[in-house]
Amino acid sequence: MRLRLADRPLEDGYLYFDRYVHQEPAEARDSAAPVVHKDAQVHDSILGPWTRVGARTSFSEVSMGAYSYIVNDASANYAEIGKFCSIARDARLNPGNHPTWKAALHHFTYRTRSYELGPEDDHDFFEWRRSHTVTLGHDVWIGHGATVLPGVSIGTGSVVGAGAVVSKDVPPFTIVGGVPSKPIRERFPKAVQDGLLAVSWWDWSHERLADAIDDFRDLDADAFVEKYA
Ligand SMILES: CC(C)(COP(=O)(O)OP(=O)(O)OC[C@H]1O[C@@H](n2cnc3c(N)ncnc32)[C@H](O)[C@@H]1OP(=O)(O)O)[C@@H](O)C(=O)NCCC(=O)NCCS
Repeated sequence: MRLRLADRPLEDGYLYFDRYVHQEPAEARDSAAPVVHKDAQVHDSILGPWTRVGARTSFSEVSMGAYSYIVNDASANYAEIGKFCSIARDARLNPGNHPTWKAALHHFTYRTRSYELGPEDDHDFFEWRRSHTVTLGHDVWIGHGATVLPGVSIGTGSVVGAGAVVSKDVPPFTIVGGVPSKPIRERFPKAVQDGLLAVSWWDWSHERLADAIDDFRDLDADAFVEKYA
């Protein structure tokens, strides 16, 4: 079972937020510290160094790896986001399903306390949602307004086109689009994909990224792999 984020050991530079409360920094902030917009909501989540969460975006039980960013008006629940992911405006990661097999779809059956219909919310129902985690690998790009449905995993280096609804797992380095999404193409031939996975630049240190920045800019992936593999 997925370890509760509050209980998870934190790597260097990662921070746990039970509930993020915005405060203007009293002193010069650590530039690697996560930046959460004052109008964002971050609840029970872990954010890595150099991460950014945009205005009116909400996170609940999300772990987001170093350098990943999600811009404004997006949301994620029960999600494991790798490093260096780029998540566009209005994206939805794991919008919660309602119980289609029961007599009532409405959430009074599980958010029972708020409706004064019983003393306890339905914890089993929330566990069911929690067990359908959305997972993004590293360097995944989620396009504008895309939705990644509960339980779906998206492989490292993959792209979800604008407006897509992703209902099935996406292998690494694949571009998908449409409703429901289908593969559009692979980004690279298999040898380059394997080379990038072998290089795994997303695990490099900040200093190593800085040293290689000209190659990230100037080389295509095949030449990059040839140089670093
Ligand atoms: C998917 C995307 C990356 C383009 O990938 P690409 O491989 O270069 O695709 P192409 O433009 O060559 O199009 C290939 C085919 O996919 C289709 N396609 C492209 N984007 C699509 C999308 N978002 N949804 C459905 N189909 C799409 C094209 O119509 C074309 O179809 P055809 O073969 O029938 O003519 C791009 O269209 C996209 O959606 N970008 C997201 C932009 C965005 O949201 N930015 C947010 C800021 S971070």
